[in-house]
Parts: sequence; structure tokens; C-alpha cells
Amino acid sequence: MSGPPLAICGEALAALRAYHTPPEPAPIKLDANESPWPLPEAARRRLAEALAELPLHRYPDGAASELRAALAARLGARGDELLLGVGSDEVIGVLMAAFDRPRPGAARPTVLYPTPTFVMYPITSRVQGFTPIEVPLDDAFDLDVDATCAAIRAHRPNLVFLASPNNPTGNAFDEDALAAVVAEADDALVVIDEAYAPFAGRSLGDWVDRHPNVGVMSTLSKIGLAGLRVGWIRMHPALAHEAEKARPPYNLSLPAQRAATVALTELAGLLDETVAAIVEAREALGAALARIEGVRPCPSRANFFLVEVPDGAAWQAGLLARGVQVRHFASVPRLSRHLRITVGTPEENGRLVEALEALSAGAIG
Ligand SMILES: Cc1ncc(COP(=O)(O)O)c(C=O)c1O
Repeated sequence: MSGPPLAICGEALAALRAYHTPPEPAPIKLDANESPWPLPEAARRRLAEALAELPLHRYPDGAASELRAALAARLGARGDELLLGVGSDEVIGVLMAAFDRPRPGAARPTVLYPTPTFVMYPITSRVQGFTPIEVPLDDAFDLDVDATCAAIRAHRPNLVFLASPNNPTGNAFDEDALAAVVAEADDALVVIDEAYAPFAGRSLGDWVDRHPNVGVMSTLSKIGLAGLRVGWIRMHPALAHEAEKARPPYNLSLPAQRAATVALTELAGLLDETVAAIVEAREALGAALARIEGVRPCPSRANFFLVEVPDGAAWQAGLLARGVQVRHFASVPRLSRHLRITVGTPEENGRLVEALEALSAGAIG
């Protein structure tokens, strides 16, 4: 026996590391852009009741009809415009599996996104055999429209991913800039990733009605239900119809479908209250961060701040030593002096600010 047949591993895997999530979160967990609040007791009891009735010996509804209808109603969309996934992470994978035909004469399909942005675009594109085309955001982390359009003309990507608000920078892209990219990439699917749009108070969901090459993707993960793993994209029904062929048939579990349906109907007010509370906490936290010497928060329309500090790695470790877990992007040189900090509860934000003040006094004093 010569050992496991590792020669069968995809070439892209050699350059990748498995997505790491810390096994034991610190007492104050501000690293994953989740809602800081657990569901209230009454909501949990209602969900438990709904889940207790489920026929778990059966496969779930492959079309997720009940959830699809609830989601369509909330979005003002048609059910056949929606592709549902185990988080938008899975939606990204299904899109790449479905829309992967290389352009004539090219060996591989390409995908384009600005950088820095959400890590699953580069990871999934490499795993799925796409060539990633990365266009740096400008100094203010805004879209460089000229460079993006030039890259679209040069590489003719099948897919363009634009997260707005963007992760990890927190800013929402200008509508005219997005429209220019959508116009240039008229033979690609332009995915506007609105994972954080609830915190920006703006959705471009209705662009799907006007632009057959636009998909608008979102998720329940950031508004209080990360554990459910439910995400979706709204796009032209003809594209949704094709992408459905690449979706695993029972991807959303029965508990996830039922709980998400209850959340989007009976508990919809709670989701909206969660968003409002996070936005209020964000405004207070942004002001407090801006008062700390050596700490510079970038303007945010999301549920986190990208914050410039004197040394990202050292300050991340310093915060962790004080019980606060935040994200540092060690492999992104442009962000070596930045941390991404999720908005917590007002109490958690107070502890974060104290910890940052202590680090600031040590670094500067
Ligand atoms: C921009 C963006 N899109 C999508 C996701 C993935 O969300 P989900 O939990 O639905 O897979 C994230 C998660 O951090 C994100 O930042």
C-alpha cells in the first residue's frame, strides 16, 4: 500500500488552505459578521414547536416551495427567479458549476471581482477551475470603473462578483459605478452580493427586472440566522432554470427550510428589529472608534468596520489577549494594518473600545 492517492487532488488545492474557523471562540466574538444577539426566548420556542412537527424520516422538498414563496413575498420577486443555497457560499459554487463554459478559444472560463473582497470568490473560482481576474479597488476602496471595464473587455468573464456593501471594506459601491460595470459586462452574469445590504438601507433587487444579466444575492446569515445556512440569488428565470440543474437536489435541510420560513413570515419583524439595533450600535461604535488615537475606522454601511491600526497582526493578538476576537487578513498585504471588527452588542462594543484604548496607550504612550 503506497498511501492515499493524493495525486488525484485538484491542482488548485496545492495553493489553498481549508477555510479556518476558530474552535473555541473568545468571550467577545467580533470576527464573523454575525448578529451579536441570540434569538429571544419566545422566538426560539416558536421555532422549536415548528421543528418538532417535521417528518425527518423523509427527504425535504427539493424545490423548497414553502420557503421560496416566503422569500419571494419578502423580496417582491417571483419564485422562479430564485436559486436557494446552503448559505450564499453554496450559491456561489452552484453558479460556477452552472455557468462555466469557456469563451470561444479560451481554455478556461474567467470570473472577475474587485479586491479586497469576500474570500469565497477567489477560493471557489480556483477550486472550480475558473481563472480569477482581480481588479484592485481604488484608494478609497471604491470601484475603479475604468480598470474594471477594461478588464471585462480584455477577459470576457462569465461571472462578475460585486459585494455591495463590500466585505471587508464596509462601503457600498456607487450606483452609477455598478451600472457602468453591468452595461459593460452584458454577456456575463453580474452578481451583486447584498449580504450586508439590510444595514445599508438600500437594495438593488429590482435591477433584476431591468437587466437580464444581473443577479442579486443575499443571505439570512447577517441578520440573526447564520446557523441556518440559507442564502439565495434572484436572477432572470431563464438563468435560474439553468442553474437549478447544477444545484444538489436536497441542499436545504427540512429544519432549515421550515425555520427560515417561520423566520421570514411570523418573525419578520424581529429580523427587521435586529437590523435596526445593529445599525444603531454601529453608529455609536463608529464614533467611539474614531476617538481612539491611532485607530481609524473606514466609513461603514455594513455590520462591521474595517479599522486601520498601527499593526494589524499585533493588535489582533492584543485584542484576543483581552478576550476580543476580530479578523486580520494576514495574506492580504494591502490590509496588513487593518482589522475587520463586527459590530457587537453595546456592552461588547464598550469592552472592545476599552481594549483598543489600552492597546493605543501602550503603542503610543
Ligand atoms: C459578501 C459576502 N457574501 C456572502 C457571504 C456568505 O454568506 P453565507 O453565510 O450566506 O454563506 C459572506 C459572509 O461573510 C459575505 O461577506
